[in-house]
Amino acid sequence: MDSILVSGNGPLHGRIPIAGAKNACLTLMPATLLSDEPLTLTNAPRLSDIRTMTDLLASLGAEVQSLQDGKVLAMSSHDLNNHTAHYDIVRKMRASILVLGPMLARHGRAVVSLPGGCAIGARPVDLHLRALEALGAVMDLKDGYVHATAPGGLRGGAVDFPFVSVGATENALMAATLARGTTVLKNAAREPEIVDLARCLRRMGAQIEGEGTNVITVQGVERLAGATHPVVSDRIELGTYMLAPAICGGEVELLGGRKDLVGAFCDKLDEAGIDVSETPDGLKVARRGDRVRAVNVHTEPFPGFPTDLQAQMMALLCTAQGVSVLEERIFENRFMHAPELMRMGAQIEVHGGTATVTGVDRLKGAPVMATDLRASVSLILAGLAAEGETVVSRVYHLDRGYEHVVRKLRGVGARIERIRAR
Ligand code: UD1
Repeated sequence: MDSILVSGNGPLHGRIPIAGAKNACLTLMPATLLSDEPLTLTNAPRLSDIRTMTDLLASLGAEVQSLQDGKVLAMSSHDLNNHTAHYDIVRKMRASILVLGPMLARHGRAVVSLPGGCAIGARPVDLHLRALEALGAVMDLKDGYVHATAPGGLRGGAVDFPFVSVGATENALMAATLARGTTVLKNAAREPEIVDLARCLRRMGAQIEGEGTNVITVQGVERLAGATHPVVSDRIELGTYMLAPAICGGEVELLGGRKDLVGAFCDKLDEAGIDVSETPDGLKVARRGDRVRAVNVHTEPFPGFPTDLQAQMMALLCTAQGVSVLEERIFENRFMHAPELMRMGAQIEVHGGTATVTGVDRLKGAPVMATDLRASVSLILAGLAAEGETVVSRVYHLDRGYEHVVRKLRGVGARIERIRAR
């Protein structure tokens, strides 16, 4: 298995292009199942999770062509010939559950294996199932598979989510576009990926209002047409690379970055002593002093501080002046990076969903292991802040969500290389 070698770094300078959002692309791709006309996505990221979704859609009979070195995905679902999403593919990625709503809406039936994905907590799919039931679906769980039917088609309904779920909102939103009548989604997720999905569905002819607020209203239509849609910038990749100059010093411009995608995160960076300014091409980030200040962070659904940036923020706070408290409120068991950071000399105490980080002067390079997608990149960031060499193993997690991480960081002067397994 490949690993990544990072050496402690001086200041970083230059520009990093931000790719299209993995999490937006993973919900936009299943939207192809809603129409028999082509759906083309531009600004797609080149990632193994996107290849997994490609395989899943292909297994259902959709055509997915990867053009322009993977930046364009041309999809067509005119000839779907299978309605079962098998465990072999679904187990690799939790977002596979997002084919359920579209398949049910278009074909009145779907069989989907219960998903796998990052090992961060239990992560059930009950909210997805309950939302689709509110639209008239009948669910049967058998042998690890969800067997869903909608005899006579889906009908509009009221869904009141007991708590915010990005994926369940996406599944319900896609299903509602073809349901008969009006659907109201209350306590809906407000993430930029939901807004991007609603925009794409509207281009396809869907009637949707309220995306970006916590109440989304959908007027079902008979059929959806084809469309071409650019994937929104990846706010998690953006936030991750914003932390690189925050950790190493220097000044880095993130091309395609937008403050409205990372508002709460920018507020915390400001508190820690990092300047973020808007430029014509994106965002520029520079550290104000020699060392950042400790800050307290708790994760929340958008527009709060994203759980997907918690591990990377912890890497920054390991060398901050003072004591920071990080509270993870979205997922249980999402501090698996903490023991790895401690191997590098970080002082962290974890109690349940709270981690207390006492800043040290400098981290020390060490061999560490990536445990999940965001944890893996937090270890790379920590390696940039450390004295000596850090080797991050199990980097297949990283390939799921960060394209060209080595090339992008080297482009701003980081000392990082990928070591290929022989
Ligand atoms: C999405 C993102 C993921 C991010 C997360 C929260 C994608 C592909 N992934 O994941 O990167 O970390 O949002 O911002 O977009 N829950 C239930 N039952 C359900 C669904 C969720 O209990 O049916 C719980 C989860 O375990 C979690 C919380 O709800 O504790 C929020 O999860 P959710 O917003 O659904 O996350 P995902 O859509 O899986």
